Amino acid sequence: MLIGVPKEIKNNEFRVGLLPSSVKEFTTAGHDVLVQTNAGASIHATDEEYIKAGATIAKDAKEVFAKADMIIKVKEPQPEECKMLRKGQVLFTYLHLAADRKQAEGLIDSGCTAIAYETVTGPFGGLPLLAPMSEVAGRMSVQVGAVAMQIGNRGGSGLLIGGVPGVKPADVVIIGGGVAGTNAAKMAVGLDANVVILERSLDRIRQLEDLFGPTANIIYSTKASVDHYVFNSDLIIGAVLIPGAIAPKLITKDMLKHMRPGAVIVDIAIDQGGCTETSKPTTHQDPTYMVDGILHYCVANMPGAVARTSSQALNNAVLPYALQIANKGWRAALSENPHLMDGLTVHEGKITQAEVAQDLGYEFFAPDQQLAA
Ligand SMILES: NC(=O)c1ccc[n+]([C@@H]2O[C@H](COP(=O)([O-])OP(=O)(O)OC[C@H]3O[C@@H](n4cnc5c(N)ncnc54)[C@H](O)[C@@H]3O)[C@@H](O)[C@H]2O)c1
Repeated sequence: MLIGVPKEIKNNEFRVGLLPSSVKEFTTAGHDVLVQTNAGASIHATDEEYIKAGATIAKDAKEVFAKADMIIKVKEPQPEECKMLRKGQVLFTYLHLAADRKQAEGLIDSGCTAIAYETVTGPFGGLPLLAPMSEVAGRMSVQVGAVAMQIGNRGGSGLLIGGVPGVKPADVVIIGGGVAGTNAAKMAVGLDANVVILERSLDRIRQLEDLFGPTANIIYSTKASVDHYVFNSDLIIGAVLIPGAIAPKLITKDMLKHMRPGAVIVDIAIDQGGCTETSKPTTHQDPTYMVDGILHYCVANMPGAVARTSSQALNNAVLPYALQIANKGWRAALSENPHLMDGLTVHEGKITQAEVAQDLGYEFFAPDQQLAA
């Protein structure tokens, strides 16, 4: 199979779909890899290293999209990339389609077979291709939140997250105790903040209790508990997920006026539409904005800022699945692996992900029937 790796073009996105070490895995297995020139330059993965790993260098994205059987990317295809995709071509990348009608239209029009990293499941449950980026975003959320709390031109509350002897630490509430939320909590606990995690799954609550013991309070998430902790925290981290679906709006605009002045919301779930009514996607160039005295940080590609760590972590997770597609062909790989099939989102112009179809108002087509057709 010919695998294509274009350079990412989303604002401030420096990650790359395949690192030279991953390319080597494909070429060793007998596949060809075409990498756009300078695709990994921002993270010091040079064209020479890709060539050494057995790749061929393409002069531009057009050449990669025109020739490849499978495109491996990081972020969702941008409109100009959607136009280059075609029927019979596999796209393997993050899509986050439920909150992105324009991209859905582009993928449907292209006729390609789009498999979303974020809904591929693991043999022991969970979302193994989302997990590494959630780990990164979760850990980063506390770093960026701590900086946003500093008094700067954006108007933070002026609190040091861990306090100092004799001065109380900041109150941090993390809504959603999954992968991102747990990693956020580890960082916040490590920085001596006062940490609460709101979670809805009782099984998960028990695991969190075992993990954090007395260092964090784990509270069942209800409308009342969300209100209470959002109103009484300095840093609020939104890390909820209903897989494939748009994020629930747990913090409404009306709630902002009851919050502590200068409180910071880091809405990690912004890539699924955000769990705050007033959240709108921002970029690393301009990450925060103020609404009713509450500072919002809503960068949709947080891991892009630590692109070297993120690319390596993402490659580690994606590689086994991508190799399956390359070795067996997409039809056999999807049919034989129900976990990979869970990622199939758009196939030959049809939406094959129930939550995406529902959120965007499209007809849903069962993925196994589409493959059999
Ligand atoms: N902004 C970014 O750059 C970035 C990067 C990575 C991941 N993410 C996003 O972060 C979000 C979280 O991802 P994850 O991997 O941690 O998901 P996860 O499935 O591991 O965790 C989500 C948790 O939210 C809980 N939850 C659902 N509804 C809830 C509610 N009403 N109250 C409290 N808890 C609730 C679930 O029980 C689950 O434990 C996703 O939207 C993901 O796409 C964003």
